[in-house]
Amino acid sequence: MKVFWLVQTAADLPEDDDWLAAEERARLQSMSVAKRREDWRLGRWTAKRAVTAAWSEFVGEPEPPDDASVVIRPAPDGAPEAYVQGERAPLTVSISHSAHNGLSAVAARPVALGCDIEEIAERSDRFVEDYFTERERTIVGGVAGDERALAATLIWSAKESALKALREGLRLDTRAVEVSLTGGLARSSVNSGLTGEEWSPLLVRHGARNFRGLWRTHGRFVLTVVAEREPEIIRCRHEGGLPL
Ligand SMILES: CC(C)(COP(=O)(O)OP(=O)(O)OC[C@H]1O[C@@H](n2cnc3c(N)ncnc32)[C@H](O)[C@@H]1OP(=O)(O)O)[C@@H](O)C(=O)NCCC(=O)NCCS
Repeated sequence: MKVFWLVQTAADLPEDDDWLAAEERARLQSMSVAKRREDWRLGRWTAKRAVTAAWSEFVGEPEPPDDASVVIRPAPDGAPEAYVQGERAPLTVSISHSAHNGLSAVAARPVALGCDIEEIAERSDRFVEDYFTERERTIVGGVAGDERALAATLIWSAKESALKALREGLRLDTRAVEVSLTGGLARSSVNSGLTGEEWSPLLVRHGARNFRGLWRTHGRFVLTVVAEREPEIIRCRHEGGLPL
């Protein structure tokens, strides 16, 4: 299953809001907290760029709609959904933001899909005890220093991706999903992409349901993408995109 992904930073954002649809501009203006406005705007920008990049592949039309015609609305459960001229686009979209960086992943609908970007940072023993399963705690406990920060951030990110794929978010107990690092902690250990992108595999279990995932580092961040089916990952090509 093909998944397009894109990271954008606050520096990629246009200064104006012309690329937002009228209903999105109204939503933005209703947000009182500056950080929330910044995150939301970056998430919308990244998702729209990813949707238009994936458009011809998934929708089969050569020309994507312009940015202001694509509306990313939250469904009642909170998951983002793409609409064009009032019609639900045949795409599944996921959004994440962390420290002025936005990540979006897009696949053809219908599929369970989630993505997450997290800044690599130490997590306290308390955090790991409270939110991780016993097996996950064993993975984190088996490494030290920078590797511990990477392992804890990566497991947390994969959980968030899976909770988004389930469309539940933190309404579910984080221990209800369990991450296995099937490729270990080695960065870029497999080439799983159509375009030579190197990501490493992971697996997330939710009861009897298995989600396939991929992860990689991106500067000081970890990126995870989790889906119901094996993702084949494709980086969107956009002039504003980050060089990797
Ligand atoms: C999904 C969730 C875990 C994201 O966690 P986070 O670390 O804050 O944020 P991230 O930047 O990684 O992801 C945020 C994006 O997740 C997406 N998202 C939110 N709820 C989602 C859900 N139920 N399913 C899938 N995606 C969801 C949104 O697109 C959101 O970005 P946006 O609001 O700018 O559109 C969290 O928002 C959550 O638990 N939501 C469900 C519960 C809820 O709605 N609580 C109300 C707020 S207290």
